[in-house]
Order: sequence, then C-alpha cells, then structure tokens
Amino acid sequence: TRILVLNGPNLQRLGTREPEVYGTLSLEDLRVRLDAEAEGVTWELRQTDDEAELVGWLHEAVDTGSHVIMNPAAFTHYSYALRDAAALVTEAGLILVEVHISNPFAREEFRHTSVISGVATGVIAGFGFDSYLLALRLVRDRSS
Ligand code: DQA
Repeated sequence: TRILVLNGPNLQRLGTREPEVYGTLSLEDLRVRLDAEAEGVTWELRQTDDEAELVGWLHEAVDTGSHVIMNPAAFTHYSYALRDAAALVTEAGLILVEVHISNPFAREEFRHTSVISGVATGVIAGFGFDSYLLALRLVRDRSS
C-alpha cells in the first residue's frame, strides 16, 4: 500500500499558526506520529502552498496507484481545479480521505463549503492531528 499525505497552503506553519485553532504541534511532529502508525505501508508527507503542485501530486497518485490523505487547507473551499484532480483519484478506484485539523463547520461561514468532499471517499475533521491518524488507519485497513 502506498499513501500520499498531502497538505495545502499555510500548513507548514503548524505549531505557530493560530495555536488556539490548530494546536502547537508542527508538521514534523505529525510526521513522527504517522510513522508510528504506518507499519506495512509506504507513505510520504508533503506540503505546498502551490495549487498547481498539489494538482500534480494528485495526478501522481493516479499514475502510481497511491491512496491519498489530503488536507487541502483553504483550497478546500474554492479550488475546482483541485476538486477535478481529486475526482481522478477516486475514479481510479483509489481512496481519498479529506482531513481537517479543525472542524470547519464550527468556524466562519466560508469554511462550511468544501468543493472537495463530493468527490472524496470520505471526510475526517475536527480531531486535530488524530484526523490524519484515523485516516491512515482507515486506508491501511481497507487497502490490505
Ligand atoms: C483546515 C481548515 C481550513 O478552513 C483552513 O483554511 C486551513 C486548515 C484544517 O485543517 O482545519 O488551512 O483545512
């Protein structure tokens, strides 16, 4: 099983960015936690602020048969390009879990819309870094 764990804009700043919303752990801390759960799977954690790069990574997932755990960050709410690329992943029969650290529905109105959810396999939101860990476990169990 191969899994790409993809993160969108501003998530490199985790740990110092709005800690009251996102907590004090960094993306590096997330890497360590995922590693402890990742027995038997090949996985990679990536982050970019660039929409085109994220789209390219989803194409790569299709081409390499990789499942995807993605926190699209603010792109969640408006990127149709990312939605169309995400649709390619699930159309290919691969699992795509949309994850969020916070619960976007408990926040500003503009965060209540996800253009990604409709083409994702499912969504896990609101559990901090555990959202990623739950997603990893799920993909691991379902793909083995
Ligand atoms: C987020 C929620 C988004 O609304 C926000 O733009 C982010 C992070 C989350 O993980 O809670 O950057 O995706």
